[in-house]
Amino acid sequence: MRRDVAAFDVFAPVYDRLMWSADETALRKGLSCAERDVERCVEVGGGSGRAASEVGATVLDPARGMVERARGRGLETIRASAESLPLSDGSVDAVLVVDAFHHFADHEAALSEAARVLAPGGVVVICEIDRSTLRGRWLARGERLVGFDSQFFTAAELGAAIDRAGLDARPVEYGFGMTVVGVAG
Ligand SMILES: C[S@@+](CC[C@H](N)C(=O)[O-])C[C@H]1O[C@@H](n2cnc3c(N)ncnc32)[C@H](O)[C@@H]1O
Repeated sequence: MRRDVAAFDVFAPVYDRLMWSADETALRKGLSCAERDVERCVEVGGGSGRAASEVGATVLDPARGMVERARGRGLETIRASAESLPLSDGSVDAVLVVDAFHHFADHEAALSEAARVLAPGGVVVICEIDRSTLRGRWLARGERLVGFDSQFFTAAELGAAIDRAGLDARPVEYGFGMTVVGVAG
């Protein structure tokens, strides 16, 4: 198991007590970019369901402890990784990734999988930390110091990666906490 996933497996029982609430406004702003109705929504790297519970998404995550917490919240769950989604082509209206993209092992593969499972007009909404901000640089350094393999991006880098996956990238929020979406054609 990759180091970041193993850490979240251990951290799961206390995760919700240590984290602040998810930014529902940012999530809804991102979801509003979809060019179809959003009924089937999956949060990849959804952890304990902190963000998924705000919008009724299914939680997909490889860390057993996190998935169990999400199930305890009454959410639908799938134990899997972002780089290999056990979902059919064009089967979802929205993919959310909240505070998790920097933990993924292969970012290009994760975006390509998100693009594959989205129906036309569907949207991937990525809420992340911008590494070009001062707080972003400190956070990136802090995560490395505690042993995570995290890799952070700027809004421009994330937008370019989303475009390369064949989606239409649109930044919707800038700053330490940024939101970049990609709309499926
Ligand atoms: C900081 S938590 C965020 C959880 C949730 N999105 C939230 O906002 O509370 C990061 C999550 O990413 C998950 N993760 C790490 N590597 C992953 C991968 N390759 N595919 C999917 N999820 C992954 C971890 O297991 C963890 O639950």
